[in-house]
Amino acid sequence: MSAADEVLKKGERVAGQGNSTRPSGQPVPSENTSITAGPQGPTVLDDIHLIEKLAHFNRERVPERTPHAKGHGAFGELHITEDVSEFTKAKLFQKDTVTPMMVRFSTVAGEQGSPDTWRDVHGFALRFYTEDGNYDIVGNNTPTFFLRDGIKFPDFIHSQKRLGRNGLRNSDMQWDFWTRSPESAHQVTYLMGDRGTPKTSRHQDGFGSHTFQWVNEEGKPVWIKYHFKTRQGWETFTDAEAAEMAGKNADYHREDLYNAIEQGDYPIWDVKVQIMPFEDAENYRWNPFDLTKTWSQKDYPLHDVGYFVLNRNPRNFFAQIEQVALDPSNLVPGVGLSPDRMLQARAFAYADQQRYRIGANYKQLPVNQPLNADKVNTYEHEGSMSFLFNNEDDPVYSPNRYSKGAGFLDDGETSAQPNGQAADLYVNPDPHGTDLVRAPYVKHQDDDDFIQPGILYREVMNDDEKERLADNITNAMAGISEQVEEQVYEYWTNVDENLGARVRELFASKK
Ligand code: HEM
Repeated sequence: MSAADEVLKKGERVAGQGNSTRPSGQPVPSENTSITAGPQGPTVLDDIHLIEKLAHFNRERVPERTPHAKGHGAFGELHITEDVSEFTKAKLFQKDTVTPMMVRFSTVAGEQGSPDTWRDVHGFALRFYTEDGNYDIVGNNTPTFFLRDGIKFPDFIHSQKRLGRNGLRNSDMQWDFWTRSPESAHQVTYLMGDRGTPKTSRHQDGFGSHTFQWVNEEGKPVWIKYHFKTRQGWETFTDAEAAEMAGKNADYHREDLYNAIEQGDYPIWDVKVQIMPFEDAENYRWNPFDLTKTWSQKDYPLHDVGYFVLNRNPRNFFAQIEQVALDPSNLVPGVGLSPDRMLQARAFAYADQQRYRIGANYKQLPVNQPLNADKVNTYEHEGSMSFLFNNEDDPVYSPNRYSKGAGFLDDGETSAQPNGQAADLYVNPDPHGTDLVRAPYVKHQDDDDFIQPGILYREVMNDDEKERLADNITNAMAGISEQVEEQVYEYWTNVDENLGARVRELFASKK
């Protein structure tokens, strides 16, 4: 059986045959008729199967993800076709390596059951089951984000979700937040443009979005950005088509991906990276760790790495998609984080939500187990729903006098501190010192929140796209207050004067 099939099959019970049993194996007398006190009397408390069936039913749901609640996914394989060993020692990126993987596509703001085609940024989250454990790239279908500091993320998501007072989505608070957070302009330009309404999950590109670090065998670091280019081509809906589809089929993206894979029409994405020499970061014209910015492909062109193909549907949606715990802190040797504050906040946030959402031992679930499960050697133990346990002779603490080791930087004998930079996380590039401070991002010469969205508007979008952008923006403005309306005009005028004027003109005609 291939490694990818093994990943997919993990946890599956053998097909049910014959009569039903209780989960603990005892035969069930009846699934249809409860025990009663006489043919006309009440049901009884000691009808064990009835009670167990109702009680378990009450516990079938886990809390949905706070953002990205609605999603769907598939499994497949990553194939590396190029030699990038000069840049990374990560085993999964070595030429000719094939790595089992899964993906979860999602929307950000909608709840479970909300339409896939509501205008939104779309999640593009990848898990690779590598020889060195799980590696997750939890990105989106846009190369940027609304924010550059994780401390604003809860406020941002609150403003996109529902109003406490009435449980309704509210465009006034969406625009109020965006227009008072000018760093959002680049991402809002993507969101209000065609990329906010991809036709399907297959017809969109994905991005790691952040700047990450790659490190080679010699310990030499470079900065990289991941790009996943769809081979299916880009297809998008207009505002009107997306709204119509939202009413017709809320699960349109989920169904499309499932059907394509069932029919053997396996979607493929080419994996490419932009590579920035380590030393360039200091003086690049935009702060290269600021997630609201891209790196110009003229400065840092795309390098081919390989491709991934989605050729297997999940065997069970809940076990493998709802319970999957994708997490930017799932890193492997050869890849690291960067001084991007958003990424640093994310390194905490995901595992914490997963402990709450699924439970403390979510990493023991089949879909979250690494491929090298037999090598897992951890001092974490016990807690709710613990079903894996260490060998009885293994100590449960470190350091210890037994043969069970500590971390690879520890000396193994004592608790002596590893000395030096945390190069396993990323080689620290900060020539200005590493004191912990609260300070704004250091601006580089061209840093300005509106320059890049302005370029996107003027130089990348054609006239039709520009008009659709203005149309989509003004559709999304329905119901906003006069005060926020003026903020919106100023915001788009800052991006581009013509766009600001067009939004004003078009919105006036829609009032
Ligand atoms: C500091 C900023 C951020 C915080 C605190 C944050 C937090 C979260 C949390 C708690 C989840 C739910 C995780 C789970 O229960 O499985 C989530 C999901 C997700 N986030 Fe973020 N997020 C942040 C920024 C971002 C950015 C910048 C991106 C993309 C570049 C992103 C992409 C995603 C995706 C794709 C998912 C869904 C993962 C899945 O499919 O299971 N998030 N986020």
